Amino acid sequence: MQMQMAMNIQLTPFISNPRQGQLLNLNFPNKHSTLTCCAIRNSDLKLSQTQRLVHHFNPKTPIEEAVTPPTSWYTHPSFFHLELDRVFYRGWQVVGSTEQIKDPRDYFTGRLGDVEYVVCRDDSGIVRAFHNVCRHHASLLAYGSGKKSCFVCPYHGWTYGFNGALLKATRISGMRNFNVNDFGLLPMKVATWGPFVLLNLEKENLSKKEVDSHNVSKEWLGSSSEILSTNGVDSSLSYVCRREYTIECNWKVFCDNYLDGGYHVPYAHKGLASGLKLDSYSITMFERVSIQSCEGSSEKNKGNYDRLGRKAIYAFVYPNFMINRYGPWMDTNLVVPLGPNKCQVIFDYYLEHSLKDDKDFIEKSLQDSEKVQVKSIGFTGLIKSSSCNIPTFGCCMSR
Ligand code: FES
Repeated sequence: MQMQMAMNIQLTPFISNPRQGQLLNLNFPNKHSTLTCCAIRNSDLKLSQTQRLVHHFNPKTPIEEAVTPPTSWYTHPSFFHLELDRVFYRGWQVVGSTEQIKDPRDYFTGRLGDVEYVVCRDDSGIVRAFHNVCRHHASLLAYGSGKKSCFVCPYHGWTYGFNGALLKATRISGMRNFNVNDFGLLPMKVATWGPFVLLNLEKENLSKKEVDSHNVSKEWLGSSSEILSTNGVDSSLSYVCRREYTIECNWKVFCDNYLDGGYHVPYAHKGLASGLKLDSYSITMFERVSIQSCEGSSEKNKGNYDRLGRKAIYAFVYPNFMINRYGPWMDTNLVVPLGPNKCQVIFDYYLEHSLKDDKDFIEKSLQDSEKVQVKSIGFTGLIKSSSCNIPTFGCCMSR
């Protein structure tokens, strides 16, 4: 079996034991070992150089005079690592949907920057998250998503419960001073808001009880949370499906495209534009959220009219999550950075409960949505392939 090691996590297995003054066996971890992101350390070394790139852009430039940030922000590998460190390893980040962990023993895995994680629901129904790294020798522990009775490491068979406890360590009977309680999975801070699952790498050492949902709402969405809740962004919708796209562009290019929605839609998405009253487009800014809203068109474009309804809300949540609520639909777009020139966009579709069995409506709506996405992806791909040092006016025009 091919073993995929979690190279991004350092287990420090071959270190001096402070209690016994001797080297530990390479194959057994020290209970004091800490999981540290090498990427964070490495990026620290490059930060001063990279921080110079930051100053190439003045965020205080008035919007009327603004241009896009410099090309290096979209292409430079060290800037990408700076973003992981300063943006994605801080604050709440969406990683999935509660649908993926609907029942006890459901789980899903993922990677945020260089950090592997597993999110699960334990036997008591509590949502938990851990570094997806075996405490023995740092193999990736779980893969993909689904349901399991426990996590068995594919390398040497150490077995963990859904509460993170080490249940079984194979062939350790000769080991002295080994206590299974010292080698449970390392927890991460996890929370849910509506149908969304969030991780916070900054607070990974806090215990579960310290997660206060009100604080999560405040920290993640600020004062926009109430507006989103009262406009139908909630857990009452039925989950329909997921679509994933891997795009050869910097993650911010996709976000830029989203944020200039009202500007490019009349030209790039004529079908969508016919279902919207674009002259009603408005943008409201909050601390970490921008909400674009637009009324539905009364034109007799029946398919789009039904799909888009009378009002559409497009919420961009810093740094990489978008919530689109229109008609009976809600879809979300999570832009996962995979490298300076690559990202994955995950679309989750939700529908009002009364329509969840209307297969024709669902299929037609998904086809219409797919057309919009494919076109946008085409444009973001073009932007990526034409990355060069030409200053661009950017997408700061209001609409
Ligand atoms: S790495 Fe050995 S059991 Fe997991």
